[in-house]
Amino acid sequence: MLGGDFQIKAELLLRADTGNSPLDRINEGDALLDTGRSAIHAAIASAIDVKKIKKAWVPFYSCQTMIQPFYDHGLEVNFYGVGKDLASPIGLPDRLDDCLFLFVHYFGRFNEAISSYLLIARTQNTVVIEDVVQSCMNSAHGRIGNYVVHSLRKFLPVPDGAILAGPKAISINPLPANETFISLSLLSKISRAVSDVKDTRHIALKNMAEDILDDCQAIREMSSFTRRMLPKFDLSEIQSRRRQNWQQLSDAFATGTLKNCAFRPLYEYLPEADVPLLFPVVAEADKRDAILEKLRQEAIFCPVHWKLGSPAKPWLRCDFDLSRSLFSIPIDQRVTSPALDQAIDILWRVDS
Ligand SMILES: Cc1ncc(COP(=O)(O)O)c(C=O)c1O
Repeated sequence: MLGGDFQIKAELLLRADTGNSPLDRINEGDALLDTGRSAIHAAIASAIDVKKIKKAWVPFYSCQTMIQPFYDHGLEVNFYGVGKDLASPIGLPDRLDDCLFLFVHYFGRFNEAISSYLLIARTQNTVVIEDVVQSCMNSAHGRIGNYVVHSLRKFLPVPDGAILAGPKAISINPLPANETFISLSLLSKISRAVSDVKDTRHIALKNMAEDILDDCQAIREMSSFTRRMLPKFDLSEIQSRRRQNWQQLSDAFATGTLKNCAFRPLYEYLPEADVPLLFPVVAEADKRDAILEKLRQEAIFCPVHWKLGSPAKPWLRCDFDLSRSLFSIPIDQRVTSPALDQAIDILWRVDS
């Protein structure tokens, strides 16, 4: 089995503190929140409280939950494209005046193109929100934004968890964690740990939990469950396992079993400082969903980031086309090297 939601196993509950946890990377003044969208919400609220901003630039290649907070704050939302490699921005102004600017390090890969763009276009009146949700708390990322949004729940077996870092203590008053969401999310992760791989009941619980988040958006605190669990994780170990898995898979595509595979890596090189969330690949758009289904039958659960709506502007077409052909192979810390080798054989069979 590869991928799917994280399980919460009994072994984890009893594990001793590691002394190298994500909590050790948090600075005084950072806000501990429940979700990435809460953190984006809080960043916007804090920014528009200080500056009179009415406009935002956001990537079209995003999920709705990331963008909704900008609408909720009544901002004029402008989309820019990121291109067929997620690294070729298009549709951006030469100068960013009086606006919020959101960008993402997709799949944990440093966004070099936007970083270079900001060196030229950023002004004193630009408030940059750097989304490092997919960077697995990699300390080399998060140095560009006025506000930096981290996630824990995307790469650890916890029900919630996000961090908002800012230039100074961020004055927000989050509500308590949503008890119904936390309970459902916990139930789903515990159920997955104790059930057979073919048992899909945990998925309904997870969907119910996520629907609650989608339905009642608010800035909320990180749950006390997650706070208590965080010291049990060894962040460096997790990051290095992910990098090793990424490299093993990349080698299989470059020179190994997957050399002639029809779906190809979105990028072939992982800079030294990056920690990958997943291993994104590109298939032919009309074959992608069939490949995903075949992999699901083999218990390889590949997520799709994201299903984008049809764009209103022609220069956003590349992003839309990419969203129809992209999917990701899990390379998270649960995946051992022999398990990845087995998965590579399955990937090869699925393609042939
Ligand atoms: C890059 C990115 N930013 C923000 C979010 C929102 O995070 P959350 O689902 O924790 O609200 C997501 C969710 O998938 C994401 O992928």
